Order: sequence, then structure tokens, then C-alpha cells
Amino acid sequence: MSYNVISESWNAIEADWLVIAIPEYENGEGFVESDSFNNFDDILKSQMAQMQKQGDLKGKLCQWTTLPAPSGFSAKRLLFLGTGKASNLTRSKLEKAVRTIARKTADKKNVKIAISLEELNCSELSLNELYSSTAKSFVVGSIGQDLYQKEPGHYSLDDIDFLISKKETKSDIEQAIAEGEILGCGINLTRQLVNGTAQDVYPESFAEEALNVAEEYGMECDILDEERLVEEKMQSMLAVAQGSDRPARMVVLKYQGASSDDPVLGLVGKGVTFDSGGLSLKPSDGMKTMKCDMAGAATVLGAMAAIASLKLPVNVTGFMGLAENMVSGASYKLGDVLKARNGITIEVLNTDAEGRLVLADVLSYAVDQKVSKLIDLATLTGACVVALGEEVTGVFSNQTEWAEEVKSAAKSCDESVWELPMFDEFAELLKSDVADVKNIGTRWGGATTAAKFLEKFTGGVPWVHLDIAGPAFASSNSDDREGGATGCMVTTLVEVAANFK
Ligand code: BES
Ligand code: MN
Ligand code: ZN
Repeated sequence: MSYNVISESWNAIEADWLVIAIPEYENGEGFVESDSFNNFDDILKSQMAQMQKQGDLKGKLCQWTTLPAPSGFSAKRLLFLGTGKASNLTRSKLEKAVRTIARKTADKKNVKIAISLEELNCSELSLNELYSSTAKSFVVGSIGQDLYQKEPGHYSLDDIDFLISKKETKSDIEQAIAEGEILGCGINLTRQLVNGTAQDVYPESFAEEALNVAEEYGMECDILDEERLVEEKMQSMLAVAQGSDRPARMVVLKYQGASSDDPVLGLVGKGVTFDSGGLSLKPSDGMKTMKCDMAGAATVLGAMAAIASLKLPVNVTGFMGLAENMVSGASYKLGDVLKARNGITIEVLNTDAEGRLVLADVLSYAVDQKVSKLIDLATLTGACVVALGEEVTGVFSNQTEWAEEVKSAAKSCDESVWELPMFDEFAELLKSDVADVKNIGTRWGGATTAAKFLEKFTGGVPWVHLDIAGPAFASSNSDDREGGATGCMVTTLVEVAANFK
């Protein structure tokens, strides 16, 4: 994306679309009462007044209306975009509104957009939030899940002018836009990996992509193949992969933005590139979106690309456990007992509870790498979606302060998260008669029993588990969001890294 920050009058701007963001005016009068309106000529004024009368200029969130630019304008079209009441504006509302018009306008190649946020007069969001959220949403909103179509419905918006008033500081805004663009690119990296089919995105190819990212941003990247995973005694993760023709991999990606004795933030991702359920086979309906089951690992990679690109002064190591859960004569079986890397033995009573088996070994590997704090991300349980719905990430933790930090980062990014309990009673449900632990609990409280299982592999390091089974993948398109991968929690992870001490 190339962008310019300019302060010029609206009519001088050349663009396919001149987007004017408007709030839902508190006095109910709308745009025709604003100062900007008075700069319009009489013909345009009367047109606008009529539009307002028709209810087209209410400024309600995501309401938009367009008209051919009248003579005197260099742009081809005007587009008024509602963002709702200024006093209620949040990052996610603004992002929704901008994505809506990005989706609408990015339907051709080489579309040029100009946008003005001046009319918002926003005091709820900082200048940085306002412009970084807008830039991010243009980047995210103009890319779809139509990766495999001959003529995709979306083309990235490569040319955007941001119109600012003379009193705003251009360099601050440029910085905010650059940050937003980096976030958007990180999110799109995550989304494209998740939207990629399991034919294309499998452990080795994912690892290859991680290597490319590492090279692009100057990060260290270690890819552990099967032989090394055996050496590392990662039998729990290897068992998940053993029914597949695709061998398992673990990617360890190191970003060093601070000195080597500064603390390290560890990010762990579930990377099940396809989850058939294994011998505990999923029905078709439950299986059809399971290319998304590596979203945790893809989120770690997308966030790390953004963190490195922003050159944040922190140390972050990403650990991505990659395996495909398939059915064959070599599949792991019910009743098998696996010895995890940290010595805990696990009785397998459901091969579809595979994510925790992958994470068990990757978490214990991360702990041995001396990370000071851990976050894992996983499309782990349907139970979490039942509890919190499709838009909310489940939070689980073994340490209150660390959980608060992650939650407050999510709050400032306006991503929805909710903490669920970690009572010890849930661990009782995992007791096995033949091994140290079994890999499923009872029917109830499944999101927490999964988290209690993971806790056993965290070695007491402050840890937050984020269950993104609901929000990582959207089942259908909507006006403000392309269906498929969402890239949820990339922004929050970057925020956590920015505040990490
Ligand atoms: N990958 C699934 C969880 C999932 C469900 C992700 C829906 C995204 C959308 C996970 O591996 C799984 O199959 N979990 C089982 C656990 C059960 C067997 C204890 C589940 O949720 O049913
Ligand atoms: Mn599963
Ligand atoms: Zn799974």
C-alpha cells in the first residue's frame, strides 16, 4: 500500500472514491449543519440537503451513501460513511465501517481512495488509534478468501490518500498509518495461511513459509523435523501426526529486539493443518472447516511478522506445533498411552482431542527454552464456542497478573475476550486409571478441562491460554467482513509485546 497524508481541500483530490467519514450527529441534524458543508457549492448543498431528508446521511454505523462527484471535484465519486455516535466510537466500530467500504470499493484493480476523518472530530480515540485502525482496516478489508478464484472479487487497495486538517501533525499520523498497515499485513498473513487449503498448507509448507518470514524480517528460525522431534521426546505431538502422510514439524522463530538477558515472551500456536478427528472421526459437517485448525500457529506467525516489522524493543520467541490429524493404518488409537516430553503419560480416549496433545509437548519445549511468560493460541474446543459464541476468545490462565495484562491489551485493541474458570475440580475429571492423565474429561466444561490439561505442561511459568475456536474462522461473508479466516488476536499479541517488560 502506498499512502499520502495531505492537507488539501476535498475538491482538489483526485481519486476513484473520496470517502468522507461522518458521525451520527448528536443534534440529529447531520452533515448539512457542519462547517464542511458550507464549503460546498449551492447545487451540491441542495443535493446533500435532499439526501439528508431521505435519511441517507444519518451517519449510522456502517451506513454509506455515494454520489457522482459534482463538477468542481477532481474525484470521481463521493462516499459518505457513517461511523455512529462520536461519543460511542470504538476501534472495532471504526474498523467495521472502514472494512465495509474497503470491501465495496476494492472490487477492481488499481482503485484509488482518498479518505477524510476530519468530520468525525473524534475525542474517544487517540489520533494514533484513529489512523492506525483505519489503515489496518483498508489492508484487511480489501483481501478476501477468494484465493482460488480465477477472477477474485477483491484486489488490495494500493493507493490511499489520508486527508487531514492543517492543525494535525503529519508525521504522527504517518507513523500511525505505517503501524496500521503493518498490523493489517500481519493479519493478512495469518488469514492467508488459514484460508489456504490443507492440500497447500501442511506442516512442511507452513514451516517453509515461516522460514520466508524469518528471512524477510531478519529473525532466527529453527525447523525441527521428525528426527529431531524424536530426539526431543515429543511423542505426544508425534502420535497425532503418525496417521498422516505429512510429517510433523515444529517451528521455533526468534525475534530479538532487546538485549539477550532481557525477558522473553513465548508465543505458542496449535498448528493442526487438518483435523479429521483421527479414528474418532468427525462427521462431514464438523470437518469441512478444519483446514482452520492451524489458526493458532498462523496467529503466532502473523503477530511475529508485525512485531519484527515494527522493531519492537522486546524479545519474542514463537513455537508452532505442526501436525495433520488423519486416519490410516498408522493412526494413533484409542487406549494408546503416550509419554509426553515432560514425562507425563497420557491415555488417549479420543483422537479428536489432538490439539492438547500437540500443545503439551510444544509448551514443555518452550518452558525449557526459558521463556519468562507464555501465551498459547489454539482452535482448541467446540465447547468454548458453545460457552462464548463465535466472536469471543476464551481466556484461561495460571496467574492472575499475567491474565490481566493480556486482557487489558485485548481491551485496548477492542478484541473480545472473556476469562473462564480454572478451578482445580476440573483437573479431577482428567484422572486416568492407566496413565497419569487422560486426554478428555466428561461432556461438560470441555473448554476448561482442555485448559487444565495444558496447565500440566506449563511448568509453573506464567501462562495464558487463548481458545480461538470461535473467532478464528467466520462461517460466512457479511457486509463488514469476508468469511473465512479473521486474523483475530494478532493485534492483541502485538499490543502485549509492545507493553512487555
Ligand atoms: N479443532 C477442534 C476444535 C474446534 C471446533 C475448532 C470447532 C474450531 C471449530 C478440536 O481439535 C476438537 O476436535 N475438539 C473436540 C474435543 C473433544 C473431543 C474433547 C471438540 O471440541 O469436540
Ligand atoms: Mn480435534
Ligand atoms: Zn483440532
